[in-house]
Amino acid sequence: MSSDSSIKIESVLQEQRIFTPSKEIADSSRIGSFDEYQQMVDAAKTDPEGFWGNAARKELHWFQPFQKVLDWSNPPFARWFDGGKTNISFNCLDRHLGSSKADKNALIWEGEPGDVRTFTYRELHQEVCRAANALKTLGVEKGDLVALYMPMIPEAAIAMLACARIGAPHSVVFGGFSAEALRDRLIDGEAKVVITADGGFRKDKVVPLKPAVDAALADGACSTVKSVLVVKRTNQTVEFEEGRDNWWHELVSIQEADCPAESMDSEDRLFVLYTSGSTGKPKGVVHTTAGYNLWAHLTFKWIFDIKEDDVYWCTADVGWITGHSYIVYGPLSNGATTVMYEGAPRPSNPGAFWELIQKHRITIFYTAPTAIRAFMKSGRSIPDQYDMNSLRLLGTVGEPINPEAWIWYRDVIGGSRCPVVDTWWQTETGGVMISPLPGATPTKPGSATFPLPGIEADVVDMNGESVQTDEGGYLVVKNPWPGMMRTVHGNPQRFRDSYWEYLRPLDGSYIYFAGDGARRDSDGYFWIMGRVDDVINVSGHRLGSMEIESALVSHPAVSEAAVVGRPDDLKGEAIVAFVTLETGRVVNEQLIKDLRSHVGLEIGPIAKPDEIKCSDALPKTRSGKIMRRILRALAAGEEVSGDTSTLEDRSVLDKLRE
Ligand code: WT7
Repeated sequence: MSSDSSIKIESVLQEQRIFTPSKEIADSSRIGSFDEYQQMVDAAKTDPEGFWGNAARKELHWFQPFQKVLDWSNPPFARWFDGGKTNISFNCLDRHLGSSKADKNALIWEGEPGDVRTFTYRELHQEVCRAANALKTLGVEKGDLVALYMPMIPEAAIAMLACARIGAPHSVVFGGFSAEALRDRLIDGEAKVVITADGGFRKDKVVPLKPAVDAALADGACSTVKSVLVVKRTNQTVEFEEGRDNWWHELVSIQEADCPAESMDSEDRLFVLYTSGSTGKPKGVVHTTAGYNLWAHLTFKWIFDIKEDDVYWCTADVGWITGHSYIVYGPLSNGATTVMYEGAPRPSNPGAFWELIQKHRITIFYTAPTAIRAFMKSGRSIPDQYDMNSLRLLGTVGEPINPEAWIWYRDVIGGSRCPVVDTWWQTETGGVMISPLPGATPTKPGSATFPLPGIEADVVDMNGESVQTDEGGYLVVKNPWPGMMRTVHGNPQRFRDSYWEYLRPLDGSYIYFAGDGARRDSDGYFWIMGRVDDVINVSGHRLGSMEIESALVSHPAVSEAAVVGRPDDLKGEAIVAFVTLETGRVVNEQLIKDLRSHVGLEIGPIAKPDEIKCSDALPKTRSGKIMRRILRALAAGEEVSGDTSTLEDRSVLDKLRE
């Protein structure tokens, strides 16, 4: 896992404040007391199959009922709701059309230049049907993978739902990734069609997208890709390849607004989403139809305690799992109104978020700690200019939130009246795993509090034994759950190794290792302490140090590279790269610049190192493993503590210190 196995998990955080749900909030919530939450936990523990079976029957529409709730006979490969047939696009759209929800807003979209589009459930259903029919005319069949490389526009959500409707798994690639990164994902997933846009608007800039698709497909690199569907968003001129490229507005608008949802097996693939791990290339995390649907649906309902009139806004990008589960599938499956925003706060409009909350009377707001810290830095005078009285609930996701930012969020954005839910989860878990329930859980700033019903989370040592109170350890989940990833696309062994066989309890049982460190306090609260593997969390974006290292080494000047995270007040972690150069190469400003932009081209701007340090050699063990622990300490400007006796050459350390 880590390049040197001595992982030390320390925690210094001491936080005593407790915020108990007000009577008013508790009384108006579905789960209105800690007792009630506890009863659900007990019920799920005593009879998991009964608990999940009932939930699945109650919360989803089935074309055909399932025969078996869980098949865990071949761990770690789980099968949920076997024999059942359903469709998430049907659950998100069609089933709401027979009720008053038909004319309720499903999606409110705000473009960066200020253009607004809204879709009722009926309208969204029609658009999705048209897009689904368009995909069919491009030859997409059940089981074919469709890649999306899109800005935050309604067509992104429409395309996802259209794919799901016809049983074509989607693979959404974040629009901020480079052509190279896109190409890797297209090849790995064997995509048949790519849906993109000419470009998108981001922070006062027009970002081109279609040219990156062209570059990714150049020289027949992705031979499986037969067609490209392009949304016109920015009106940039783009090149069109005859026979391959199609305009969305030409192809989709002429389709019938009716396309029956394909009857999907519970375990049919719904999507693949790539995420970084500690080794090798990004992993294609596979989620399947019914279990994921149930998990996104139920967690959304529990955590946001969604009500008929709520206007809910999650600021994530659909290129990440948060966008999948909590912009598109969770909210729509529940018949909620979900807001989607193309832009981001920027110097020319630092109040952009608050303006949107005021304008659309948003009631639930879900964002990342990194954003909160940035707002905090520019002061409360900006949010104070807006009327945000509509808000009733706040959420955070993506990285640990420091108590100061939590309190600021609660007081300044939430007017001291809105509960804050700090939700811990991952691409792999499909939906939230550890989180307060707003009407039930007393919160402590900085703690994600308790696992949701049915989730047996724990903090353990290398042998899978629970650690003592307040002692750091590995965060694990001890039982399968419906939203769990099913495998790594094309690499089941990697799924086993990375998640289920890293920690093996003495009794031989399978436990899921999340890659995070955590501790539990004397009240049983979970405190997530960040990654313990070689994954760096930059502003809630997950990057593997290996990937950045490979990108650096692919530059002709670089001989070797080691990349680590350094604590950063705003971004959570910053990227620090240690490189050794090829003989004859000299360090200068231009080279550092080149290396940064090279990483940008290989992966995307988010992966550009904040700092690059060149040295003659890197600290290695005698077996040749780079000791990242030492580099992490150096990057953070800390004393190198712990055992350094395994270092092959101690003078390297002294040189690096200089
Ligand atoms: C990693 C997963 C889950 C959607 C966004 C990120 C970190 C996530 C929290 C939280 C502390 C958190 C973990 C996790 N993380 N939420 N509330 N508190 N850390 O998804 O890209 O798969 O990253 O994000 O380190 O392992 P992801």
